[in-house]
Amino acid sequence: DRPRVWVSQPLFDDIVGRLHEHFEVDATGKVTVWSSPQIAAKLRGCEGAVVTLNERVGAHEIADATSLRAIANVGVGYNNLDVAALGARRIVATNTPDVLTETTADMAFALLMAASRRVTEGERWLREGQWTQWAFDSLLGNDIHGSTLGILGMGRIGQGVAMRGAQGFRMRVLYHNRSRLPDGIESNCRARYVDFATLLAESDHLVLVLPYSPATHHVIDAAALARMKPTATLINIGRGGLVDEDALADALSGGRLFSAGLDVFEGEPVVNPKLLAVRNVVLTPHVGSATRATRRAMATLAVDNLIAALGHGPDAGSPPTPITAIKTAKR
Ligand code: GLV
Ligand code: GLV
Repeated sequence: DRPRVWVSQPLFDDIVGRLHEHFEVDATGKVTVWSSPQIAAKLRGCEGAVVTLNERVGAHEIADATSLRAIANVGVGYNNLDVAALGARRIVATNTPDVLTETTADMAFALLMAASRRVTEGERWLREGQWTQWAFDSLLGNDIHGSTLGILGMGRIGQGVAMRGAQGFRMRVLYHNRSRLPDGIESNCRARYVDFATLLAESDHLVLVLPYSPATHHVIDAAALARMKPTATLINIGRGGLVDEDALADALSGGRLFSAGLDVFEGEPVVNPKLLAVRNVVLTPHVGSATRATRRAMATLAVDNLIAALGHGPDAGSPPTPITAIKTAKR
């Protein structure tokens, strides 16, 4: 009997098809909202699964999945996985870093430019028929070139954002991170390490691109927002829970923050109604990595990871394909 694997959402048929060479595949044909008991039922009897950020996989979901050996997450962020619970059961967890770095860094700039130059606000105004005459002093925004770019979370994506800012827009780049980067990487992306308070105070545009965990929950709260320039732009391409959305909506509507661009939301796909009611925020539906090429690369890497983790590499004589395993969280 061939081992069984579950694929939680539609990816690309030709890529998922490669799993059929090794496994009995239970693939999902259309976008599906899975409850925790449904996930548990799907995992029962499986040796592996490919899941997305929609599917929470923790102690509860794996309790009855006694043959489960690997979970391949399609995405770089893995706060949907309880890696401690998986690790305790010796279940390998993998993610898809690197392949989405440049595409996601592009999206940070799309939001940054849209929010600071009021692109979507202007478009709404035009479509509403309000453009009756070109007006010298309407829809004024803030410059991107030559301004100060702040990056909170300096992983691969953060470094990609820094490069774009420094090289493309001659921005001064500041960053804050759990640990300081080696000098070589700092000078390569022309970024200077500062403490969190300095980052908040000096950034004209602040990009959040750090992993979400209990330690980073609401890292941008009312107190942090109060330290930012009233002319600043806040961009979130990490996870919604990094930001206190009620406090952000208040700062935006009260004129204490110029604008924001958000690709991720705490209760997504439900968006905080206070944010929906605010004029000066650009909202996109978690599409940071959503280009055709990158989504194909992510699906390919996740499928490769699952095949390698379950020991079905391309040919038995060669060394096993490296697995993009998630490093166990340090405490
Ligand atoms: C998407 O948000 C990802 O983490 O890849
Ligand atoms: C996150 O880990 C990243 O790749 O930036």
